[in-house]
Amino acid sequence: LVLGLDSSTQSTKAVLVDAADGRVVDSRTAPHPPGTEVDPAAWLRAADAVTEGLLERVDAVAVAGQQHGMVALGEDGVPVRDALLWNDTRSAGAAQDLVEEMGGPQACADAVGSVLVASFTAAKLRWVRDHEPDLAARVRSVLLPHDHVSRHLSAPGTEAFTDRGDASGTGYFATRTGEWRPDLAAQAIGHEVALPRVVAPGAVAAQTATGAVVAGGTGDNMGAALGMSLEPGDVLVSVGTSGVASAISGTPVADGTGTVTGFADASGGFLPMVTTMNAAGILDLQARWLGVDHAGLADLALAAAPGAGGVTFLPYYGGERSPNRPSAVGTWTGLRPATTREDLARAAYEALLCSLADAVDRLVAATGEEPRRVLMVGGATRSAALRALAPAVLGRPVTLPPEGEYVALGAARQAAWALAGTDAPPAWSPGDTTVLEADPTPQVREAYADLRARTAAWTPDASA
Ligand code: XUL
Repeated sequence: LVLGLDSSTQSTKAVLVDAADGRVVDSRTAPHPPGTEVDPAAWLRAADAVTEGLLERVDAVAVAGQQHGMVALGEDGVPVRDALLWNDTRSAGAAQDLVEEMGGPQACADAVGSVLVASFTAAKLRWVRDHEPDLAARVRSVLLPHDHVSRHLSAPGTEAFTDRGDASGTGYFATRTGEWRPDLAAQAIGHEVALPRVVAPGAVAAQTATGAVVAGGTGDNMGAALGMSLEPGDVLVSVGTSGVASAISGTPVADGTGTVTGFADASGGFLPMVTTMNAAGILDLQARWLGVDHAGLADLALAAAPGAGGVTFLPYYGGERSPNRPSAVGTWTGLRPATTREDLARAAYEALLCSLADAVDRLVAATGEEPRRVLMVGGATRSAALRALAPAVLGRPVTLPPEGEYVALGAARQAAWALAGTDAPPAWSPGDTTVLEADPTPQVREAYADLRARTAAWTPDASA
């Protein structure tokens, strides 16, 4: 048996897995406190709760965690302040300052794989230096959330460790070569700090007090890719509050426009990623405006023709980051007296899917690789309309994996890999996938692209 943890923003989940075939035997969850600033001790308590009585039963364990969070430790190994999480945006100005100091966006992407934004650990360190100089001066080492939990599960005295996937979200890791840039960490916080050892994919990092293998762990997005057994050429589209498209690739990217963040993955390759700010919320708003629930919205949308009777809209309601138009608003066009509620519902699904298709296109352009498969996950994929329209708008078959705790499962698979000591992770079947196919509707994307181009005049791309 092996154990995988997902120490996410909201909770810690654990899955107990049969290492032979990847079957989940048991799973548990413990909540985290809300907010974007959290005492890391809460994650350790949650990890203790979900692993109680299990650590003694397993041969290996690994932790995947929310990316980017800043766990800044003092001389005594205790955090000097609460962790600042990936979704804490106070560090936006600090990120801009660091990008400028590094010589601008392209130089920054060349150095660390991504153009820094507020999420990145380095930006949080700089914020602390700017606003809490006394605390900053006390920082001796910096960990990511998953590193902190991994060490907690390891035997007392274990030195901190991380993996290249999560390290690639710090802003002081040369993602292309897999080496820390301690100079950039020092530049962020103001003095040299110790950084965790970077464990190779599939390697043994440590042992628990009871002798089980501890693997290096990774970031949650990397964990999900490992848990789904994705392979080079696969593109994963996740439709949640934000839309995330990531590609399993052998090629590091350095996108100076900042649209593609050039992460490393957990298996020795790379995980370039595009994040949109408006995703499932587009459907929530539309259902509210039309006075229906989500099933009702899907029924309406399926009753309209492709192209929604000429109604097109850009769903950049809360500003957008892909394309980078932070002050954008939603824009509707093509409304006529003949427009129906069905058209309005259909246009919402089409807009969501066009935005996700744009994200996939940006990945294809950055990697130069045509996707082998496009997989889609997230609660919105339960919608009959999304299932029908996704392959039509994306113009490619869309694969739906079965629902599962893939981040925790990915951690478990990494644990099993370290235990086996093999070159590649164990071949676990991700279960029966559903492949959705439909006749492409390129006119929908053309209308959307045309509107995107025209609206650029009044909400210009921030990176342009
Ligand atoms: C990725 C990112 C989020 C977190 C969520 O850049 O910030 O997906 O990993 O935990």
